[in-house]
Order: sequence, then structure tokens, then C-alpha cells
Amino acid sequence: MIETIQTVPYTDQKMGTAGLRRKTQTAMQPHYLENFIQSIFNTIPNLAEKSFLIGGDGRYFNKTAIQKIIKIAAGNHVKKLYIGQNGLVSTPAGSHIILKNKLDGGFILTASHNPGGQKEDFGIKYATKTGGQCQPSESQAIYEQTLAIGEYKISDHPDIDLSHIGRTQCEETQIEIIDPITDYLNLMQQIFDFPKLKSLLTSNFRFVFDGMNGVTGPYAKKLFEEILGAPAGTVIRATPLEDFGGVHPDPNLTYAKSLVDLMYGNDAPDFAAANDGDGDRNMILGQNFFVCPSDSLAILTDNYKLIPAYRNGIFGVAKSAATSMAVKRVADALNIGYYEVPTGWKYFIHLMDSNRITICGEESFGTGASHIREKDGIWATLFWLSIIAETRKSVKEIALEHWKKYGRSYYLRNDFENLPQDVADKLMTDLQNKLPSLIGQTFGSFTVSDAYPFVYNDPVDNSSTQNGLIIHFRDGSRIVYRLSGTGTNGATLRSYIERYVTMDLLENPEDMLKDLCRISRQISEITLRTGKERPDIVT
Ligand code: G1P
Ligand code: ZN
Repeated sequence: MIETIQTVPYTDQKMGTAGLRRKTQTAMQPHYLENFIQSIFNTIPNLAEKSFLIGGDGRYFNKTAIQKIIKIAAGNHVKKLYIGQNGLVSTPAGSHIILKNKLDGGFILTASHNPGGQKEDFGIKYATKTGGQCQPSESQAIYEQTLAIGEYKISDHPDIDLSHIGRTQCEETQIEIIDPITDYLNLMQQIFDFPKLKSLLTSNFRFVFDGMNGVTGPYAKKLFEEILGAPAGTVIRATPLEDFGGVHPDPNLTYAKSLVDLMYGNDAPDFAAANDGDGDRNMILGQNFFVCPSDSLAILTDNYKLIPAYRNGIFGVAKSAATSMAVKRVADALNIGYYEVPTGWKYFIHLMDSNRITICGEESFGTGASHIREKDGIWATLFWLSIIAETRKSVKEIALEHWKKYGRSYYLRNDFENLPQDVADKLMTDLQNKLPSLIGQTFGSFTVSDAYPFVYNDPVDNSSTQNGLIIHFRDGSRIVYRLSGTGTNGATLRSYIERYVTMDLLENPEDMLKDLCRISRQISEITLRTGKERPDIVT
């Protein structure tokens, strides 16, 4: 039976950089999830003809949330739901499932790389038929629904068994429980040279893949160990856990410390990769070597011809404005299209759909391409393995050769977390107002050549988005400031610092960027305004 439940709006359901992300306890409040899902359905016409994917990264509250979404979908007479077995679907695989089956959208239940559990975070990425997250105009329409909602429709059907592949029904809504892994791995096989990768992984090459107890473990075990023949145990932290085993499932130098220690220890393996909770982020490590994500994007792009799917050419490349300029130098040298977009993967979608770009990436450990409409941690890992298989060089050699050819953008991101929202907002407004007065000023040995708010004009829908403030220096260095759109504890100010050099290629980024980091704090008055003398997190 379908019931109509009276409700009142929650006013905090505006989506951020990557969907709706909240404390789990917030998401578990009565009617909270229900209101949000109904608000999405309210923006979609003809639901009786529409099909959606549901899945998630396995974090706490996923299973309960999936049952609720099924029943609300049934309450709204949705035609069909595809659901990952046991409720699991990685973000990249979800994008592929939507595109391959021509679905109308999907709900990926994840707070990405944020920790999970009752006291941690929960989230929903809402994708449209593009296979990627909804556009700003669509999230605005949904937000308006969340403010106006007065009722939702829900079936009182018993819970659906998600553990067996097969078909069933909830009210009139057809349900298909699907294998979330096989189709995605077939897609990878169409892009990369699996026999070549197999010969690398069955040689004495030593590789570790860290699933960080997130959703990619089962994908990686099947791919690397079963299909590509890597030894058992290659994939570590391979079982998705509701609280990620207490791990903060963010693949970076801070949160993947055990893997970093392994790669910087005696007898380190040749290559390691880690993925985040929902499998879209990646970190790449060699023996005693960390690949900065901005460099990773540049190196992958420069090597596109080594990959069967790209051998005949790529359209172009895009990066978020905050990502270093390294990939721009590659795009210029290769004479391919180049775009800069605001932070958030959704901004790449129109560029991919209109054949302007093939490869794209962000400084925040995200790289991907137009095979799907999300960033893709396993794809990035396979791309790096392919470069190694073709060149038989170490990660460090590959990076060093790249820098010798193009110069190096030393790069760091400084995050100042848990700031009062009003303090953070005022800091950004005041900083924006003073940008014109900075031009021509000298700080230490760095002179400002330009300073402006970053504004992106989408070439497909002509929408305009402002995101962050950029300061350029005469020597090619840059500082970018912006406020995070994914945090769940107060506001986070991010400052992105880069310095371009053609000599001294193997220095420590902290040393090379010390002065610029200090200048970034001075210009933003962060210490004065927040009392913080240094960032909480440096990546
Ligand atoms: C962060 C990253 C951004 C990424 C997003 C989702 O968003 O900076 O690049 O797309 O997570 O993974 P932010 O918190 O900065 O808004
Ligand atoms: Zn993620």
C-alpha cells in the first residue's frame, strides 16, 4: 500500500560540491532522507517511465537508506530500479551502469572519502542520465523543492532482499538486483591492454592496492588478483566496512599513512595505489615516491598514446582551476584542447558530452576520462600500471623525465578546517574586494601579476559560476583560495599554492613552497581572523 506522509521541510538540504553530505545523525532524523528523495522525484516528470540505479559504498546507514529509497520510488510509481547486490556500487561503476543501461539517473549513497559510522558522515550523490552528478541548475530546483515540501509518498512493502542477483517487485516498481562489478571491469578491458598488464603483474613486479575498507576492495580483488594474475594479498583492506574499520578513507599522505610508510620503508614494493571510500579518488605511490595528483594528471595526459582506447587521439584535457598548471603545459605541447573549470566533477560533464575533452582531473586526488562521468580510481591505477608496463620505468623515473621535459609545478594544498561560517565568508569577501589592490605588490621575492575571482562560463549551457579567488605571480607561481563545499564541520578554507621551476626538480615541496605558504596566510589574514597559525591539513 502506498501512504502519503505529511512532513515539514528541513532547510539545510542544499547540495554541495558532490551531492548532499551530512553527519549520519543528521541524515537519520525522521523524514530527513525521505524529504530529500521526494524533493528529487518532484523535479522529474513521468516517473512511471523512468529507471534509476541505487547503490553505495557500504557505509553505516546505507542499507536502511536504500530500503527507504526503494519504497519512496515505489510510492512515486517509478518504473524500475537497478540495485547493486548487497547495496554496493562504486561511484565510477554507478556512472557506467547508468550510461550502459540508459537509466534516467541514480542515487549513490556515499560521503565519498569522509569517514563513516554513526558519529561520522553520510551522503547522497544524485546522478542524472548523463551518468554524472546533477548540474547546478538542477540542484537548485531540488533545493527549492526541499524548502517547499509538505508530503512524501512511500510504500509499506516489506524490505527487499538485496543479497541475491535477480528480479523482484515493490508495488508496481520493477526491481533488478545486479552484479555491480562485471560490467565495469569489462569496460576497463575495452580501454586498457589487459594481456600487457597481466604480464607485468605476473612478473616479479611488486604492487599493492589499498582499498581503505571502502567499496573498491571487491572490484580490485577481482581485477588485479583474479583477472590480471597479481599474487593473492596484493589488494589490502579489501572488504567494505560500515565504519571503514575506523579508517578515514581518503587516499592521501595523511590518511593512507600505513601505505605511505610501506612505500617509504625498506624493501618497499614497486608501485602502490589507494582508492577512497566510494572509489573515485586515487593516490599513486612509487618506491619512496609520491605522485602529486596535479602531476599525475599531466603525466597521464602526456602518455595517452600508450593506452589502446586513446591511441588514435584524444579531444582535450580539463582541470579544476585549483589544480596546478602542469597539465596546461602538456596540452600546449600536444596541441590539444584545454579547459579550466570550477571545483567539482560535474563541471567536466558538458565538456565530455560535447567532445571537447577526453581526460580530466582535480588536485584532490581525482583523475578520470570520458568512459564515464565521474572520476575513477581504478582507471587511474590501470593507466599508471600501463605506463609502467610499456616503459618498464619506475614511478620516480617517469615523473623525473616528465619534469625534465616540462618543468615542475611544486604544489601543496593548505586546509584550515572547522572555521565559523561567518568568519570564513567575511574573509573571502574582504579578500575578493582587495584583489585589485594586490596587483603589482611584491611579497618577498614574489610580485603579483594578476588577481581575480575565477569565473567559469560553461560553453554548452552558457551558465556562469564563480568559484575561488586566484592570484598570479610574475614567476608563474599561483595561490588559489576557496571555501570547501563538502565539509560537515563548520567551514573549511582551502589555499592552493604552486611554484613553477625548471631546475631543482627533486626538492621537498614544503621547502620550495615555504615562502609562498607564508605569503598566502599573510594575504588572506587567516591567522589574524581565525587564530590559526598553520593549516590543519596539508596535502
Ligand atoms: C572536494 C575537492 C573537490 C572534489 C570534491 C568531491 O571538494 O576539493 O576537488 O571534487 O571534494 O570529491 P571541496 O570540499 O573542496 O568543495
Ligand atoms: Zn569519493
